[in-house]
Amino acid sequence: MNLELSDEQRLISETAREFADEEIIPRVRENDRAGRFDRELARMMGEMGYLGAPVAEEYGGWGLDYIGYGLIVEQVGRADSSARTVVSVQTSLVCGSIEQWGSEEQKREWLPRLCSGEALGCFALTEPDTGSDAANLRTRAQRTDSGWSISGNKMWISLGNVAEVALVFAQTDPELKHKGLACFLVPTASSGFTTQEIHGKLGLRSSDTAEVSLEEVEVPAEAMLGQVGDGFKVAMSALDKGRYSVAAGCVGICEGCVEASVAYAKERRQFDVPIASFQLVQAMIAEMIVKRDAARMLVLRAGDLKDRGEPSTIETSVAKLYATESAVECANAAIQVHGGSGYVDDYPVERYLRDARVTTLYEGTSQIQKLIIGRDATGINAMTPDA
Ligand code: CAA
Repeated sequence: MNLELSDEQRLISETAREFADEEIIPRVRENDRAGRFDRELARMMGEMGYLGAPVAEEYGGWGLDYIGYGLIVEQVGRADSSARTVVSVQTSLVCGSIEQWGSEEQKREWLPRLCSGEALGCFALTEPDTGSDAANLRTRAQRTDSGWSISGNKMWISLGNVAEVALVFAQTDPELKHKGLACFLVPTASSGFTTQEIHGKLGLRSSDTAEVSLEEVEVPAEAMLGQVGDGFKVAMSALDKGRYSVAAGCVGICEGCVEASVAYAKERRQFDVPIASFQLVQAMIAEMIVKRDAARMLVLRAGDLKDRGEPSTIETSVAKLYATESAVECANAAIQVHGGSGYVDDYPVERYLRDARVTTLYEGTSQIQKLIIGRDATGINAMTPDA
């Protein structure tokens, strides 16, 4: 694996850094304070081509490689994890699933508008009683004369209140367990589809999060993504892409922590010298740098495998686990470097900690990533011990 970025990848990263500095960072504190989802910023990210960059050009993306996509996500994540969540959900979970599993008509109908940011999409997998055990969905899809009727509740759905289309995962036959799951492209304007905003989050305050209710939502047969029984694989393959994106965003948080801590430690004076001259402060910064670099390399490795079309589930889980845990640790250490100033939002580090915290939970908890890695290493699946 070549660790050198190409000239094009370097340019993509620099352009994304400029965009993040000029367009995202000036908005982030007010959006965070107000708990406001910034639709205008999502539109601007769409104009930049950041909401579907790996999608093929014929469907409205720019056919960007995964390493290049990860570099964009890193820069957006350094600026604002709420904005990064829009990029990750829209690009990896929604566009990525439609491109991989959709029919030609579905791709032509949805991808250009999603890639441009004209429409937003959401990924409705999780339910009030179904989180880590994603195969065990209660939402039911029942056949009708012309298609399907879907009923159930979804929870913690990023972009759920603002999306125009939802990827809804539902059980068609409970006896079949994960082999009965199906995924549907459901327009959110459908009769029986309602959402409610979730308030009071620790972080990601300017990311939209919804509780979704579906009451006998009717969709035509052509709304299904893939076939009956493909639903679980659609979800898992989407999460393979989504976890990569979350990991890349967390490299951005680690980088932001390093930059903020170095700047603050050089400016803040105690005992008549900048605190940057104290070795204990340098040690905290050094530890952040080691975590940032290691996380970045793990993300690069996962991206390189994806770009070569090789299996990358395990390497993606390794990157997600390490990068998300590192983001929490770096943000915590960055607050320590900033002292009392790190506890208020004059500096970005308290937001880094609040925003990083959810990344070890969503798109598979750290424990689920360990389970995936551990199962692969041992060849033993604790859910089916006789296997
Ligand atoms: N790609 C494609 N197929 C896959 C796959 C992958 N990465 N991983 C598993 N599969 C397939 C398996 O091959 C198997 O297929 P067969 O039936 O044909 O043999 C099938 O799926 C079942 O696999 P498992 O036996 O491994 O399934 P499991 O029930 O034991 O669970 C799990 C696996 C890893 C625990 C999984 O349920 C999981 O990842 N859980 C976490 C769910 C999660 O991440 N939720 C996040 C919600 S989304 C979110 O947060 C969105 C947001 O808004 C930000």
